Amino acid sequence: MSSFSRFAGVLAIATFAACGMDPVHDGAVAAQGKEVTGVPIGEFHRAGQPCVVCHEEHGPASNSVFSIAGTVFAGPNGTVGVEGATIQMTDSKNSKFEKATNCVGNFFVKPSEWDPAFPILVRVAKGAAKRSMKSPIGREPSCGNCHARIIDENNQYGSMPHVYLFAGDDPAGPSKNCPVNPDLGL
Ligand code: HEC
Ligand code: HEC
Repeated sequence: MSSFSRFAGVLAIATFAACGMDPVHDGAVAAQGKEVTGVPIGEFHRAGQPCVVCHEEHGPASNSVFSIAGTVFAGPNGTVGVEGATIQMTDSKNSKFEKATNCVGNFFVKPSEWDPAFPILVRVAKGAAKRSMKSPIGREPSCGNCHARIIDENNQYGSMPHVYLFAGDDPAGPSKNCPVNPDLGL
């Protein structure tokens, strides 16, 4: 899969998401699958998924729209979420905002907190560990829409590592007080 078609796919989502009745968007929502048993609907659910496919004005979670959201995992392999990583963001007007990940590695920003002017630059940090995305994010609000091994059953948007911070495990280990398992086990 070429990087051109990967970005064409992302662009298609961004374009069609503006329309109300939209089979492409409905398909993108359905492709995320059902809720996982034992994980309540809320801040810990659907780690790694492109949150804003649903958490947008025309999505099934239109009551809780996010301007940016995603998940930070420990290493490139495995799916253990990192608790307390900071997402450091700067928008095109040099407005800066930081958000910390919860115990499964999820983070989300509501427009009332920060409504960035895209493109934005992003860096992820915890303790001495830091990782910057070199290119700016043009307008896609879900980290998981680009950083995903498989977006749908047809691998439609290509594969790229999920967002991760360490070479392997978080030296602090996974969260010990998390209401759900921070290891997706995938
Ligand atoms: C397939 C659709 C879908 C995806 C993907 C999704 N969510 Fe949700 N989420 C929902 C629905 C539906 C609700 C419940 C209705 C609502 O809050 O609008 C919800 C509720 C929530 C809530 C509670 C909101 C509130 O105000 O009570 C949070 C927080 C949340 N999700 C975070 C996330 C994060 C973070 C991600 C990505 C890692 C994500 N969601 C991915 C559909 C989704
Ligand atoms: C439009 C697609 C896209 C979106 C959305 C996106 N990324 Fe990226 N990301 C990339 C690409 C492509 C690279 C590799 C090239 C680069 O660093 O610019 C990358 C690289 C990174 C890296 C560096 C990885 C390394 O090897 O060190 C981090 C960290 C990162 N992204 C975090 C994020 C976070 C956090 C979000 C959500 C706020 C996000 N990205 C959203 C496409 C995207």
